[in-house]
Amino acid sequence: MRHVISSQDFDVNLIETLLDKADTFESSNSNPKKRNGFRNLYSDGILLNIFYQPSTRTRLSFAFAAMRLGMDVDGTENANEFSSAVKGETLEDSITVLSEYHPDVIVLRHPEKGAAEKAAKVSNVPIINGGDGAGQHPTQALLDLFAIRREVGRLDNLVVVMGGDLRFGRTVRSLSYLLAKYPGNQIRFVSPAQLKMDADIKQYLKRHNTSYSEMSSIKKAFDGADVIYWTRIQKEHLGDNIDYDEASKMYEIDEQVLSYLKSEARIFHPLPRVNEISPLLDSTKHAAYFRQAGYGVPVRMALIDWVLSGD
Ligand code: NCD
Repeated sequence: MRHVISSQDFDVNLIETLLDKADTFESSNSNPKKRNGFRNLYSDGILLNIFYQPSTRTRLSFAFAAMRLGMDVDGTENANEFSSAVKGETLEDSITVLSEYHPDVIVLRHPEKGAAEKAAKVSNVPIINGGDGAGQHPTQALLDLFAIRREVGRLDNLVVVMGGDLRFGRTVRSLSYLLAKYPGNQIRFVSPAQLKMDADIKQYLKRHNTSYSEMSSIKKAFDGADVIYWTRIQKEHLGDNIDYDEASKMYEIDEQVLSYLKSEARIFHPLPRVNEISPLLDSTKHAAYFRQAGYGVPVRMALIDWVLSGD
């Protein structure tokens, strides 16, 4: 059975296979006349979206992806309030029961790091991690790679700036693992001192010969960069030891960056954004974040297809 729990589950061969498959799905997804065919692929299938944390993109792009493959979709978008979790049911019991209904795949988002792995241990059907606390978000990382390959043209020898909340942000963690699988990438981390990237990721990068540095100046970090991966400060996770307004203010970027961004540089963001990217940048050639979100559908179609096809 194929679960998708963390970015380390993918090797470069599999990543390339999935991204190529997503390319095929993408051209059909954006063109209604080309959609025929994929709806027959899994027309008996059911995807369950079980979300214990808020989500717009991940949940709905999985739903769209499943429907484009002909599947039915059900689930709960507020499992923390509306499921039996409120009555004290453990995650393991909920997943055990749901797998007795024999859906074909369960997408799980949960506030606890390691929740997807826990679920996979008891599940009779494949579990896809849609974000586990400050742990990982592997399907986002795969769509980030797809977006970078599309928008910048390659996945190796890139200078990548990751900025914002690197401590609680799971997207930057999952993306770091994937970028380390390609040669010559350099990562520049920019974050408030209290929200730095954790040591485990830095050790992983070292082991995989991916050079990284921690920088405090946004201007210096952007100098010569190919990819800017900007994230929000995660207000909901901050304790008292850091002032949200002050921290988020430091990471706001606006048209000033146009004077020092390289012409080919592209800005990505997992979204939602708050104030960290000015809407004035949206109409510039550098803004790739909305197209990036759109790539969530074809990339998740490729993932569902891989999980279900077994080949
Ligand atoms: C992210 C998440 O939930 O980790 N959103 C997403 O899935 N695109 C990022 C965030 O919440 O800031």
